[in-house]
Amino acid sequence: MEICFVEETTSTNTVLYEEGLAGRTKDCMLVAFRQTNGKGRRGRDFYSPVDTGLYLSIFLHKELEVSKALLLTPLMAVAASEAVEKYIDDSISIKWVNDLYYKDKKVSGILTESSPLTSDGQTEFVVIGIGLNLFEPEGGFPEDIKGRAGAIFDKSIKNVTDMSHDELTAFKKKLAQTILERFEFHYSKFPNETPVEEYRKRSYISARWVQILDGPEVFVEGISDDFGLAIQYRDGSKDILKAGEVSLVL
Ligand code: BTN
Repeated sequence: MEICFVEETTSTNTVLYEEGLAGRTKDCMLVAFRQTNGKGRRGRDFYSPVDTGLYLSIFLHKELEVSKALLLTPLMAVAASEAVEKYIDDSISIKWVNDLYYKDKKVSGILTESSPLTSDGQTEFVVIGIGLNLFEPEGGFPEDIKGRAGAIFDKSIKNVTDMSHDELTAFKKKLAQTILERFEFHYSKFPNETPVEEYRKRSYISARWVQILDGPEVFVEGISDDFGLAIQYRDGSKDILKAGEVSLVL
């Protein structure tokens, strides 16, 4: 798939989404080193400073039922984890459904957006965007995300801190290419096979208590075969959440 790098854009998701609405049919990846209007889930902003992060989206011209399109978020989570792990001697955790965690901090988030559905309920295209905090910004993360946000690379890591601007750009390009490679590997088998085992073994909240957003505290039994969250309520009843947001009970 074609990969395109830009220094700055509003939001890689918005740009590709608009291209989709305008008739784009070719799959591609758009990578930006800075976003002026980065979007998060639930209408939130996604802090996207230059130098310390990497922001990219994949455009797929694909007819999918919504239930299948939703699986592209965990697929990206696995692909990005595998890519990042090539550069750290450690593993990344995935917090259901779309956040990557490292050292107990959120280092990355994913936003998947689908085109308006066709009359038979299929997507025309899907945009899967991911933002990664590679380094901590000078002066730290903004006040509203300070407690939760973290960076993948410690400033002390050799070869990274010593990099010039051009070397850093080359590094980011390589990382984006590695994410694309891992994504394409899993996507080539999708939807017949999904990387659910790879997701499970990185699950951050399995066997822990979480609070459902605007809901009760529940125990997480694990990840179901279709990437749902298998939970148990305090009264012993069980359920599988297909979407939503949870936070760890500390
Ligand atoms: C979240 O954590 O709420 C999801 C954040 C998704 C951010 C990425 S950065 C690349 C792409 N472009 C955007 O505007 N958002 C996604």
